[in-house]
Parts: sequence; C-alpha cells; structure tokens
Amino acid sequence: MEDKQLAAEAAVKYIQTGMTIGLGSGSTVNYMLEALAKRIKEGMDVKGIPSSVKTEKLARKLGIPLIGYSKATKIDLAIDGADEVNSSLQLTKGGGGSLVREKIIDVAATKLIIIVDYSKMVTHLGSFPLPVEVVPFGWEKTAERIAAFGCNPKLRKSDQDVFISDNHNYILDCQFDLIEQPEQLHEQLKQTVGVVETGLFVNMTDMVIAAKNGIIDTRHR
Ligand code: A5P
Repeated sequence: MEDKQLAAEAAVKYIQTGMTIGLGSGSTVNYMLEALAKRIKEGMDVKGIPSSVKTEKLARKLGIPLIGYSKATKIDLAIDGADEVNSSLQLTKGGGGSLVREKIIDVAATKLIIIVDYSKMVTHLGSFPLPVEVVPFGWEKTAERIAAFGCNPKLRKSDQDVFISDNHNYILDCQFDLIEQPEQLHEQLKQTVGVVETGLFVNMTDMVIAAKNGIIDTRHR
C-alpha cells in the first residue's frame, strides 16, 4: 500500500459515528475519502464538509453525505493533507490551490489531523514555494509587494491559462529560500493589500500522521 494511503487509513480510525468531518483536499485526502466511504457503507453515520470543488465531487461520487459549512453547527474533526510540515507542526498548504477553504474549515475544527507521506516532513518550511491567494485585480502590484518580503512570486498557470481558485482568485507561488518565522511571515503577507490568504497554517494542527515505507509516525502538538 502506498504511504499516502496508509496515513489516510490511519486517520479514518479517529472518525466516530455522529461526527461532522472537515474534508481536506489533495491526493492523500482522496484516499481518506475512499476509506471513509467504505465505513459509511458499513453503517457509520457522518457528515462531511468539503474544502474544495474537487473534494466535493469525489465525496458525492463515493456517497459521502455532505453538509454546507454555513449550515454546520460544529466540525468535530478535520482531516487534511499538506505540502510541508515542520518540526513545530506548522504547515505549507495550497499545492492544489484550495488553501482558503481548507483554512476556513481546518481552523473551525475541534481537532485537525494532517496526513502526509514522510517526504513532506521538513526541518524548516520554504523548499516548497508558498502559495498565496490574491485578488485578480492589480495582481502584478500585489506580487511586487510580496516580492519585497524576499521571494520571487510566480503566477500559477494551468496549462496555458491562469489558474483560477474555487473563489475565483489567482495564486502566486512564492519561493522563499527558508521560512524561519512562519507566523510572522503569514501576518506580514496577510496585511498586504490584495492578499486573500496564505498557505501558511500555523498553530492549527493537533496531530500529524506521516507514513514512510509502510510505517506510521504520529506526532502531536
Ligand atoms: C491543496 O490545496 C493542498 O493544500 C493539499 O492538501 C496539499 O497540496 C497536499 O496534497 P497531496 O495530498 O496531493 O500531496
């Protein structure tokens, strides 16, 4: 079994009947959706809140009952993937372009479990270009302001076209050499006019389940 699938199946064990679950996005989460759908077929009663259009489509196809975020009174547990996880369980997310909705759901959850293959575990964030969602209007000027923090923002493309997020925004992939202070960088970027959200998820994760060569490594905050 692939490591991503192993981590995903380990996370599903934390889901209990009656829970409302935040459903993250990405290939690792897709394995989690498949495992969850199996439990539902066996009689588990849960509701999911999808964090992206892609996740919503797959969840519907698999028969996972869904509820809109605005209608939910609580999110007991969110399970999401990540692009990088540092030793303080701070994350870079947004490789799939779903960072805004993921953050809205992950931050609202009573508990957040991150599932990754071990290649995502790093000492410092920064090797993976930081996704920053920006409004399309004047994005070039926003990119200039972001560049002043020490990176080289690149407008994300999908084939030849500009990539458009689920919220109809653009994404700038920002290569920093090293992100030594994720919280501070996040605050600075958030205060930059034109920025909607950053892919830095700080002080949110309760547990990371990382799988390497068939072995599970669990880390707690
Ligand atoms: C989606 O926007 C991301 O935050 C994903 O959670 C992240 O890119 C991890 O994706 P994979 O599970 O596909 O590696």
